[in-house]
Amino acid sequence: MEGVNVVIPAEPILTLEQYLASGGGMGLATARRFGPDATIEELTAAGLRGRGGGGFPTGAKWASIRRSGGGRHFVVANGAEGEPATFKDRVLMLNDPFRVIEGLAIAALAVDATEVFLATKASFTSVLDRLRPAVVEMEQSGMLGDLTVTIVEGPEEYLFGEEKALLEVIEGREPLPRQLAPWQHGLFATVPMGWESATPPGMDPPVSNPTLINNVETLASVTHILEKGASWYRSMGTIDSPGTITVTVVGDVVRPGVHEVPMGTPLESVLEMCGGPLDGRQFKAALSGVSNPILAAHDFDVPLTYEDFRLRGSGMGAAGFVIYDDTRDMVSVAREVSRFLSVESCGQCPPCKQGSLGITEHLVKIESGHGDDSDLAQMNSLLRSVNDANRCYLGTEEQICISSILRTFPEDFTKRLDGISTGRGDVLIPLIKDIADDGTVTYDERHASKQPDWTYLD
Ligand SMILES: Cc1cc2nc3c(=O)[nH]c(=O)nc-3n(C[C@H](O)[C@H](O)[C@H](O)COP(=O)(O)O)c2cc1C
Ligand code: SF4
Repeated sequence: MEGVNVVIPAEPILTLEQYLASGGGMGLATARRFGPDATIEELTAAGLRGRGGGGFPTGAKWASIRRSGGGRHFVVANGAEGEPATFKDRVLMLNDPFRVIEGLAIAALAVDATEVFLATKASFTSVLDRLRPAVVEMEQSGMLGDLTVTIVEGPEEYLFGEEKALLEVIEGREPLPRQLAPWQHGLFATVPMGWESATPPGMDPPVSNPTLINNVETLASVTHILEKGASWYRSMGTIDSPGTITVTVVGDVVRPGVHEVPMGTPLESVLEMCGGPLDGRQFKAALSGVSNPILAAHDFDVPLTYEDFRLRGSGMGAAGFVIYDDTRDMVSVAREVSRFLSVESCGQCPPCKQGSLGITEHLVKIESGHGDDSDLAQMNSLLRSVNDANRCYLGTEEQICISSILRTFPEDFTKRLDGISTGRGDVLIPLIKDIADDGTVTYDERHASKQPDWTYLD
């Protein structure tokens, strides 16, 4: 099976001239002709769903920001790409940076914003080398009108990509998720987040500045939809998940890589594009990042759609998959996921930080062969409370991901409790630095020494 090139171009588009020759600018021209309401209607008709992990309907999100009062509106492109096993946003920003910026301009027009932000990591230097000149070229050409585009260079932390933390970073603070959602307390908002006394006389009335946040792949898809129309978009994919999806595959396959395919393509077909399992091995499981229940290999025929993954008791997330074969011990996988999340938890909500650290300790004990039934019992109790009254979804990720590994591979845990290993323990949470054309993956190995207070041992 072959992939498609809809959002990811076959060849990199590196100058505005090349971009315009590839149809660039036509989406924004259509949006200007349509006006905000018809632009949002077109997106809603296309059925586009956000590619940041949640699959939220983009048209509905834009309509709710457009309708919200409370001050100015802002738009943010989320290019943080912090989810383990994802690399697709970087492939997009490297190969078609202009398309993301045009998507931001269309969003600004639709929700009535005059200032937009494009946030990515300071460490993604090759991405920044493409984005910066693209913004300058588009601004100088006059294409963007009066729109102000600011590129934000953010930190390494996983939470940087979480939308409420992202707004904090744009405002110059640490990536600690704020209490309220971006539509309730957007960029530079002054409304109180909790109880506060009334605005003192003489002060400006408080503003909430509802802010739209979309993943960069979502915004690039918007540009194509406005250029070619909702029915063109719906000619690919399924009724509930139209269009294409850009999939990252790493782990135990012959040739890890990024492939764009129509939605509805079975996961196993993408794994075949990656050369299948290593010689003499069989697939055991896949994690779609660290936000969803684990998928056992007997479910690898699942079509890549939001609805099909839900039917199989998992989630597609941002379509970044780490594949494990039969050499892997799922206790070690659970321990590493839990270590990652407990380190990245910011600690504003004690059930999340203390709970995930506690779960990790029990998993380390079980993995080392020194665990007993009481570790399982205490871990189950912590898994029930780890997301109590939390500000963001990270505690829930710990709950659903770790519980699902326990549920799906109970025999790996039983054997470890009996002191028997069922596979390799050298599991790394796949934070990807680079994937070369030949499938060689460079991982961020430094994370292994990251401490719960976000310092590093090395
Ligand atoms: C812990 C955490 C990390 C996240 N990291 C990212 C990220 O790196 N990139 C991203 O686009 N969305 C990330 N998200 C999802 C965003 O909060 C948000 O839902 C998304 O950017 C919305 O865009 P969409 O509607 O286009 O999907 C993260 C969410 C959580 C809870
Ligand atoms: S749920 Fe966890 S990561 Fe999210 S704000 Fe609370 S402590 Fe921080």
